[in-house]
Amino acid sequence: MKLIATLLATAFIAAPAMANLDGAKLYAEKTCNACHGADAKKPLLPTYPKLAGQNAGYAEQQMKDIKSGARNNGQTAAMKGVMHLVNDEEIKAIAVWLETLQ
Ligand code: HEC
Repeated sequence: MKLIATLLATAFIAAPAMANLDGAKLYAEKTCNACHGADAKKPLLPTYPKLAGQNAGYAEQQMKDIKSGARNNGQTAAMKGVMHLVNDEEIKAIAVWLETLQ
């Protein structure tokens, strides 16, 4: 019973916090802009991906896969180093924001 109460309390506390996550702010705060560019259109290196307008679901999964190591190639190493800075909710908020960019 106590466990259920705790779970319910967590859900009610977590839900509004998630809704308030600002993808644009997180993108800058978590250093994503350093490699992918301030507006996600002009990456640091020509071989780095442009993220503006990318499908949110796709971007979210790629970020999770780079973080976990499921996606792993010569270039992912650069990004993997910062992925401890973002949790699943923050990844989702950034992905949703990226999709809104033209
Ligand atoms: C140190 C440089 C660097 C940083 C910092 C960085 N990335 Fe990346 N990111 C890359 C590189 C390089 C790739 C391409 C990896 C590959 O080739 O598999 C990539 C790939 C991605 C992809 C997949 C793109 C696609 O088309 O598949 C997304 C989404 C992404 N980054 C988002 C982010 C976000 C959000 C952050 C901040 C939390 C971030 N990145 C921080 C370098 C970086």
